[in-house]
Amino acid sequence: MTVPQVGEDAEALLRIAVAAATEAGRLLASWRGDERPAVVQTKSSPTDIVTEMDRRSEALITSRIRTYRPGDTVLGEEGGQTAGGPAGDGDDGGQPGRVRWIVDPLDGTVNYLYGLRDWAVSIAAEVDGAVVAGVVEVPRHGETFTAVTGQGAWLHRGQAKLELRCSSGVPLDRALVGTGFGYDPGRRLVQGEVVAALLPYIRDIRRGGSASVDLCSVAAGRLDAFYERGLNYWDFAAGGLIAREAGALVGGLAGRTESTSMAVAAGPGLYQQLEAFLSKLNPERDAQRSQEREA
Ligand code: IPD
Ligand code: CA
Ligand code: CA
Repeated sequence: MTVPQVGEDAEALLRIAVAAATEAGRLLASWRGDERPAVVQTKSSPTDIVTEMDRRSEALITSRIRTYRPGDTVLGEEGGQTAGGPAGDGDDGGQPGRVRWIVDPLDGTVNYLYGLRDWAVSIAAEVDGAVVAGVVEVPRHGETFTAVTGQGAWLHRGQAKLELRCSSGVPLDRALVGTGFGYDPGRRLVQGEVVAALLPYIRDIRRGGSASVDLCSVAAGRLDAFYERGLNYWDFAAGGLIAREAGALVGGLAGRTESTSMAVAAGPGLYQQLEAFLSKLNPERDAQRSQEREA
């Protein structure tokens, strides 16, 4: 890989993220097995899978980050959180660094397994708890989405570099809305009820299968809005910054920030309409139902 210039600023962090994501994307795209990659583990449910390629991608990304930034913390979907250290050996001497990397080594694993094209490598860099740089690499589309706080969102395709703007002035009843579903059947039941209630009031629904790609689609105006209940931080850390830098509002319900409970992204006017509509449907109610079941 091209050796990125190492430094403390967000642009330097982005260069490292892009280099690692490009390499991991190439690794994932080069998989030439005759059969589907082996499912090596299931997580929250039998459909929540990990393939050997998720693990290989994360190992590659972590090792590249450690090469350039051995003292940083890395939060990866497959490996969990590991502190850095002078030797990148996890021993931070009790002084965790200011930078943390948030890594989804393969976002859209089910698409990848089935040979569908919407899957991505997503890497974000946080400084003091705030995401300042992010990349979403989408190899099967030859597209790399990037953002640095305050510097806009960009789509790189070959040598071309295009500044992204989300759609604006789209009312809810004309909006193409992306969403996704978690792996837990109880949560899915509620997600199905919510999407059924929303569907008559919008242009249509898309379920792309990769939340990071969906958020970049909002940034690019390919979707007018996106919402999903129950994402993990690595699903939206980079894509959320990219959507925001493209002019979208990104948040949760009732004025909350986006979180593992709910993430919503849309242009300003549409965001208000969608957020109000979703709030009335109480899409986070599966948490109450599972508490009731446990009681
Ligand atoms: C999943 C994808 C999917 C979303 C799920 C995520 P994974 O990530 O982003 O679109 O609906 O909630 O878990 O498991 O493929 O990394
Ligand atoms: Ca993911
Ligand atoms: Ca993943």
